Amino acid sequence: MDIAVCRAEDLDVLERCMPSHSVDGHHAARFARQEAGDSSYLVPWLEGRPVGHAEVRWTGCEAPEVRAVHPGCPEINGLFVWPASLRSQGIGASLIRTAERLAQERGIESMGLGVGDDNPRAAALYARLGYRPTVGYVDRWAYLDAEGVRQERADSCLFLVKALR
Ligand SMILES: CC(C)(COP(=O)(O)OP(=O)(O)OC[C@H]1O[C@@H](n2cnc3c(N)ncnc32)[C@H](O)[C@@H]1OP(=O)(O)O)[C@@H](O)C(=O)NCCC(=O)NCCS
Repeated sequence: MDIAVCRAEDLDVLERCMPSHSVDGHHAARFARQEAGDSSYLVPWLEGRPVGHAEVRWTGCEAPEVRAVHPGCPEINGLFVWPASLRSQGIGASLIRTAERLAQERGIESMGLGVGDDNPRAAALYARLGYRPTVGYVDRWAYLDAEGVRQERADSCLFLVKALR
């Protein structure tokens, strides 16, 4: 398994293998943020196929509750491994470690990520990798439903932070 930053020519295959209906989490939106220098969009590849993604948002978490406490702390966003049969084989942890290495190369001393209150398995993985709970926040995001109509969601989350040295 190789992890590489997303290239423009990867967008079609990403959309085919892992269609995204989230407005801000759409592959093209993530790639555009990377092009603007605001993020790094990491893609794990297995036998020529993308099997997940993670976006390192250098501009930090968008929630004001988090920005007030952790200004300047980047965030790992959109962590996902697919198909589900490939989970629990270390791909998610490798994505997180790659994100941490990129941050260290930039001289950044901490990394954050958010986890939904309803996702205890992901929370267990982050705790095992050294991420500690800090502040609760509401993750507001939007997706396009089957009719193409924008739907808004608000999920209760916890922001976790790890010191990188
Ligand atoms: C969370 C996720 C990215 C972890 O990736 P992964 O490749 O399975 O992670 P690893 O193999 O490195 O570590 C597995 C650990 O992650 C945790 N985990 C969280 N959700 C899991 C799931 N749906 N299936 C398996 N493990 C999960 C468990 O603690 C697991 O430990 P285990 O192997 O002892 O069961 C992946 O399970 C996934 O895509 N889940 C659905 C989307 C999601 O919840 N994203 C996180 C948003 S905060």
